[in-house]
Amino acid sequence: MQNLMEGKVVVVTGAGRGIGKAIALRLAGEGASVACCGRTLANVESTVKEIAGKARAYAVDVADGSQVGATCEKVLQDFGRVDVLVNNAGVTRDGLLMRMSDSDWDTVLDTNLKGAFLFTKALTRSMLKQRSGRIINISSISGLTGNAGQSNYAASKAGLIGFTKSVARELASRGITANAVAPGFIVTDMTHVLSAEMQEQLKQRIALGRLGAAEDIANAVLFLASDMASYVTGQVLTVDGGLTM
Ligand SMILES: NC(=O)c1ccc[n+]([C@@H]2O[C@H](COP(=O)([O-])OP(=O)(O)OC[C@H]3O[C@@H](n4cnc5c(N)ncnc54)[C@H](OP(=O)(O)O)[C@@H]3O)[C@@H](O)[C@H]2O)c1
Repeated sequence: MQNLMEGKVVVVTGAGRGIGKAIALRLAGEGASVACCGRTLANVESTVKEIAGKARAYAVDVADGSQVGATCEKVLQDFGRVDVLVNNAGVTRDGLLMRMSDSDWDTVLDTNLKGAFLFTKALTRSMLKQRSGRIINISSISGLTGNAGQSNYAASKAGLIGFTKSVARELASRGITANAVAPGFIVTDMTHVLSAEMQEQLKQRIALGRLGAAEDIANAVLFLASDMASYVTGQVLTVDGGLTM
């Protein structure tokens, strides 16, 4: 079988660690050229090294409009086009509502939701011109079900779903699709903070009996980025081992 992403240029935010890194490696493995974007240059550079091919590293704070604009211009200069944008960068600042600071609210909304808006806006013009493109936003089951202690995070992830569906409607006539992936509990730095006891309790609620791997999410993203998903838009693909079914 031919490589699924041969000749495609992909931008992945938060590509230096965890799920974003797995996405960058998986799509590169299928022949894509990958612009690896992230806050910490050393992290995205290490992903690029592992790809050892058509990939470049860009240091960018996704919440900063001028940095995002400059990075997207540079990516378009370097690669000539962008076929797929994966808005993956995200943070948590968990806390109960009554104790949540304004800055913890702002940091999470600015990174997870505004970051996706800024990258999507900056890259849409070139997708419109080429009359094709794929936008894939990494949401979360917290955005579907809510989660005590994560009102900021759940709001950002639910917001991403509304954003995805609106963008899907706006851009469909130009051959651009927009979809979201909603991961459950995936083993990364983000979930390492959970105690062993909490992880055991969680596993009992997950139908498949295990936490997910970053590669489980990367495979879902590969499907949505590939030609196999050309008739799929405005959807949320939940990848959670059956936790929320
Ligand atoms: N792990 C899970 O169980 C889970 C579940 C549902 C959804 N998700 C979502 O999946 C995505 C990836 O999560 P993960 O588990 O891989 O998290 P992670 O291991 O903590 O990695 C987060 C990535 O986002 C980047 N990032 C954070 N803030 C940024 C900013 N302002 N500008 C640019 N890059 C920034 C980080 O860059 P640095 O390396 O420079 O810090 C890092 O590469 C997130 O959107 C998360 O909400 C994760």
